Amino acid sequence: MPLPQTDTKKAGAPVQDTRPLSSCQISSPRSSEAASPMAVKVYVVYYSMYGHVAKLADEIKKGATSVEGVEAKIWQVPETLPEEVLGKMGAPPKLDAPIITPQELAEADGILFGFPTRFGMMAAQMKAFFDATGGLWREQSLAGKPAGIFFSTGTQGGGQETTALTTVTQLTHHGMVFVPVGYTFGAKLFDMDKVQGGSPYGAGTFAADGSRWPSEMELEHAFHQGQYFASIAKKLKGSA
Ligand SMILES: Cc1cc2nc3c(=O)[nH]c(=O)nc-3n(C[C@H](O)[C@H](O)[C@H](O)COP(=O)(O)O)c2cc1C
Repeated sequence: MPLPQTDTKKAGAPVQDTRPLSSCQISSPRSSEAASPMAVKVYVVYYSMYGHVAKLADEIKKGATSVEGVEAKIWQVPETLPEEVLGKMGAPPKLDAPIITPQELAEADGILFGFPTRFGMMAAQMKAFFDATGGLWREQSLAGKPAGIFFSTGTQGGGQETTALTTVTQLTHHGMVFVPVGYTFGAKLFDMDKVQGGSPYGAGTFAADGSRWPSEMELEHAFHQGQYFASIAKKLKGSA
């Protein structure tokens, strides 16, 4: 069944970061423009084909910026599929969040990564982005930085936990500090009356065949994760 067009906004063609690893340490002037020097910088870095993860990313950003002294910014990772394939998959145009380069990760005090699952693991677009962070890995530029994850799956049992768990390897090799959301959201995670995505690993949603959108509770969980994560990033930066 073809996945439907979403309520996403227009944007230009997907951009692919084809720069070699050797360019990963070159600093970019564009992302530091607006940030105040004392602020705790939280980056929300996502890949979303149909818009579900993008919706969670918006709430996560809102939650992060609700913490005093925290600035949050949303980024997308580069698309790796050709337009023709995306068209056949029914993917809508990308949202207009800027495309991040690997070296820009190093500017953040904390990073939340979001992606849909593919066969129970992160989508290849996010994996390709991680594979392009070899320069950062060599220098261990991300070591000690807090990292969180959020995700979307088609089905219950389709990868809400395996997608999160298999992502921990990426964070581990970078020496990042995985900050799960735990059960800090409270009793709502125990509500069995409705279908709900998300887990102690992070916020999540179920897209079903593409027609289901994040529920109110899933969006609240995403907001909470952003807020909780930002408070931890702030504490870690303050104690550095
Ligand atoms: C190639 C492919 C593999 C997928 N594999 C899974 C899977 O293993 N488990 C699952 O629950 N959903 C799977 N899905 C559904 C996606 O996870 C779903 O489209 C996604 O969560 C929607 O998020 P997005 O709108 O942010 O792209 C797959 C989708 C595609 C296209």
